[in-house]
Amino acid sequence: MNEQVFKREKKYHISTYNRQPVEFVRGEDVYLWDSANNKYIDFVAGLGVINIGHVNKKVNDAFCSQANILGHVSNLFYTKKQVDLAQRLVELSIPDGKCFFGNSGAEANEGAIKLARRYGKINFSPERVEIITALRSFHGRTMKALAATGQPDKHLPFQPLPGGFKHVPYNDFGAIKKATDEKTVGIMLEVIQGEGGVYPADEDYLLSVQKYCANNRLLLILDEVQTGIGRTGKLFAFQHFGLDPDIVTTAKGLGNGFPIGAFIAKSDVAESFTYGDHGSTFGGGPAVSAAALATLDFIEENDICDRSKKMGDYLFGLLTELKDKNDYIVEIRGRGLMIGVEIKDLSAKEIVTNMLNKGLVINNIGDNVIRFLPPLTISKSHIDQLIEALNDEMSE
Ligand SMILES: Cc1ncc(COP(=O)(O)O)c(C=O)c1O
Repeated sequence: MNEQVFKREKKYHISTYNRQPVEFVRGEDVYLWDSANNKYIDFVAGLGVINIGHVNKKVNDAFCSQANILGHVSNLFYTKKQVDLAQRLVELSIPDGKCFFGNSGAEANEGAIKLARRYGKINFSPERVEIITALRSFHGRTMKALAATGQPDKHLPFQPLPGGFKHVPYNDFGAIKKATDEKTVGIMLEVIQGEGGVYPADEDYLLSVQKYCANNRLLLILDEVQTGIGRTGKLFAFQHFGLDPDIVTTAKGLGNGFPIGAFIAKSDVAESFTYGDHGSTFGGGPAVSAAALATLDFIEENDICDRSKKMGDYLFGLLTELKDKNDYIVEIRGRGLMIGVEIKDLSAKEIVTNMLNKGLVINNIGDNVIRFLPPLTISKSHIDQLIEALNDEMSE
């Protein structure tokens, strides 16, 4: 650990992060190196962001060559890269839709929530603005995204929060029906709850919610900030179920580390916004759009979704064998390369620290879930090393 960096961070950076005592200085594909030149295998990928590997040459070349021509002009003007990316994302998610760019997952959700409100007011009544979200959900840290987040302990320090949300248990269709009234404009869900502990939605639940939304003219809003861009074995997780959402939000993996977020909405919904209703100074600038286009190209050219599925199945299988061998593992959850392992009688935090000391970067959610979100370019040999280290950890 570089003591100087550690001390200066304490002095100059506002302390909201409980960081691991490591300063990373270099990355390459699935590897990271710290300031003492120790090498690590990365099973966190910058929290599900570096989906196609650190320092991906295709993405970086695309970003740099565009940045060297024109990096930013604001949304007062047209740029071709932004339009190329909007078209690409629309064709890949909601083919009769339109896209809007921001810079993060929270901003994508914020925009989606604003759009839903306009849709409700314009098409129904001034009161039709409420969105039902799930308990244990996570939608971001801005005030409205936080209000949408179904975790009361995260709300408490920031009350009063903006209103307009009802939180109901996840995977409980009856609870959604019960919570719906004339004020409800839509239902916002993660296809797999990520920050809440890696809980996948049941297929029946998703299909019932979709049908219910269609029959009652409610908007189905899917937060694919974490599940999107190949993470679960499809470009978007809703595509496993053939869902037809009204709004989809994305961020994290979209720029493979360059900050970009977006929401895509069906055209009739998107048209609820008019000039001046929403905006972003940086959103979808040419350089970051070039990076996102290159990310999508790389994913297609290298069958990354298929790889995510295969490597995810491989990891899930080995974790299941590990579960059969000891009593510490309670449950393994997730899909593709978004996997959480619930444990008991061991501390997830301690496991994360011990694994870090063995050169494996993993993550915990609370003290009883360890989580794996590696780059989707991970190989079997890396997964074998992870499992061997976890096996040692659980036998010690
Ligand atoms: C499902 C989901 N939505 C929204 C967010 C917020 O994204 P950001 O941190 O980019 O604002 C996250 C971040 O973890 C997330 O997992």
